[in-house]
Amino acid sequence: MFRIPQETVDQIIQQADIVEVVGDFVTLKKKGQNMWAPCPFHHEKSPSFSVSPAKGIYKCFGCGKAGNSIQFIMDIEGLGYVDALKYLARKYAIAIEEEVTPELTQAQSEKESQYILSNFAKDYFHDMLLNHEQGKSIGLPYFKDRGLSMPTIQKFELGYSLEAWDGLTSKALAQGFKLEFLESTGLTIVKEDKKYDRFRARVMFPIHNISGRVVGFGGRTLKSNDKTPKYVNSPESEIYHKSDVLYGLYQAKQGIRSQDLCYLVEGYLDVLSLSQGGIENVVASSGTSLTEGQIKLIGRYTKNITVLYDGDAAGIKASLRGIDLILEGGLNVNVVLFPDKEDPDSYIRKVGDTAFKQYINTNAKDFISFKTELLSQEAEHNPVKKAEAIREIISSIAKIPDSIKRAVFLQRCSVIFGIEEQVLLTEYNKLMKQERQKPAAPEMPVNAPNPELTPQPEDKVAADDAILLHHEREVLRLLLNYSAHKLPEGEPFLPYLLTQLEDIEFKIPIYARLVALFQEVAKQAPLVSPDYFINYPDGEIRQEAVSLLTDKFELSENWETHQIFVPRETDMLQFAADTAVLRLKWRNVQQMIKENSELLKTEKDFTEIMKIMTLIKTLQQYEVEIGAQLGVVVVR
Ligand code: UTP
Ligand code: MN
Repeated sequence: MFRIPQETVDQIIQQADIVEVVGDFVTLKKKGQNMWAPCPFHHEKSPSFSVSPAKGIYKCFGCGKAGNSIQFIMDIEGLGYVDALKYLARKYAIAIEEEVTPELTQAQSEKESQYILSNFAKDYFHDMLLNHEQGKSIGLPYFKDRGLSMPTIQKFELGYSLEAWDGLTSKALAQGFKLEFLESTGLTIVKEDKKYDRFRARVMFPIHNISGRVVGFGGRTLKSNDKTPKYVNSPESEIYHKSDVLYGLYQAKQGIRSQDLCYLVEGYLDVLSLSQGGIENVVASSGTSLTEGQIKLIGRYTKNITVLYDGDAAGIKASLRGIDLILEGGLNVNVVLFPDKEDPDSYIRKVGDTAFKQYINTNAKDFISFKTELLSQEAEHNPVKKAEAIREIISSIAKIPDSIKRAVFLQRCSVIFGIEEQVLLTEYNKLMKQERQKPAAPEMPVNAPNPELTPQPEDKVAADDAILLHHEREVLRLLLNYSAHKLPEGEPFLPYLLTQLEDIEFKIPIYARLVALFQEVAKQAPLVSPDYFINYPDGEIRQEAVSLLTDKFELSENWETHQIFVPRETDMLQFAADTAVLRLKWRNVQQMIKENSELLKTEKDFTEIMKIMTLIKTLQQYEVEIGAQLGVVVVR
């Protein structure tokens, strides 16, 4: 068994900075003494995963995973203790007494062997490109011809595979690598008694995972008009799951993080040319259509994607598919199309870096404008086509998981098309109803506050209480977190929200007390610091205030400011308040309908019955109205 000396282990532990190690996988944001991110181990929107630089540990308050740097690597990469140590040793350039001997490769797990072999192959191809006669006379000139510089070739570790049947295979076997792994990584094709290199006479693009390890390759032929396919790619393997890998992400992730934006292109060369031109936050889906896994991957670094696709029919189709998938993933999406026959690589080479950047800046469209323009060309004088276009856009909006964001986009759509929002909402509700009637699709209420709170028949009453609690709590959370804020027009937020609450009775006693308190202090001053409640004499109030202030919900999270189509946080505040109040009212109206319906069952007096029925009818109208404003389908 292979062992690492204790002093090396100590050195690794000492040098492996938890923030750096974790930061390779998620975007940490500083809040207080700790750093926070959405947990990489379970699906969540708001960050409950924290890293303590001082203690050198991480902990997720959602799923409970916790540990130090080594544990983190073990968890996220699915590695054993020794392999995790090796990973960190590599990251921090700490030498481990380790020889790639046949015995060692044999002893290692399949995965680790595939990693080591892929790394070997990458080095081999790179060496062939730079030092072999063929590489120097064919490979390098090809890259040069495509405008790629030496630094770019180095940065992406590009290579060349010889025009030979077993260049790599025989070299690897001679080094002690087992044929088994050559075959399972797809580097060698084994057919009956013959074995030969998959990649021959091609320029090579190694594909890295996010921690920088090579998991596969793409190889481009140098011949044009040849029968051989333009690209040959590694097959799926233990270490290469195509739907969870993006070409260039390893090199791009810092840039994506700092720009808070990711450009998505289609090909290897697009990534290389843009990166070389100074646009480093670029990744490619590499020929396959975009997947949910790939979007999640980008989502670790930014919530903003700009799709850069060809302007031909295929590119447009791919963009449309991509848009919906990105929206479904809860990310923001912009689109830039290039003139016909151009892809990002050819275009940046044609017009130069500066003009290219200008082009993408002036041509980036949010998905509504993109779809609108695309569809409205034919729709302008054709009402039927126009209706189709609107429906098409609404169906994209319906894919957005965040209900507030959905509402904003519906509003925008209404402005663009000059159609009343109410009409769009009706259309939207119709669409959602159809969706829900599809037998295969899971039941998904449009505006359910929280899936866990969806009522189950057996504990309907408890669920009703839970929903009420949730809605009341949301209002209190807004009050407490923004009591010192002003709305965009300068109006203080507190009185704004309190006025809307005047006719609402809070059912949860502590919340009722808090609202009363707010009303009292707001009479003296329109802006109130939350400290007032945190330091309040009554312990119950204090405790509740702290709990509300630490609710893991960040209004600004999904609303990054630099995207033109996204409203500012303060705009959002008003929206959030209006929505929260509407939800609460809606809930209360439903409660009243229920109560009155109960009364009806026992009431004998005819005039009383008529009165109650009129009341229920009014309440039901009210329910429908509020529901429509919220985008909820009221099915009676
Ligand atoms: P393109 O045909 O647009 O190639 O395919 P490209 O990257 O622009 O290359 P050049 O400019 O013609 O040299 C886009 C991507 O689709 C995948 C590759 O990942 C490629 O980068 N692809 C394409 C394949 O996997 N196989 C193919 O045969 C073609
Ligand atoms: Mn191209």
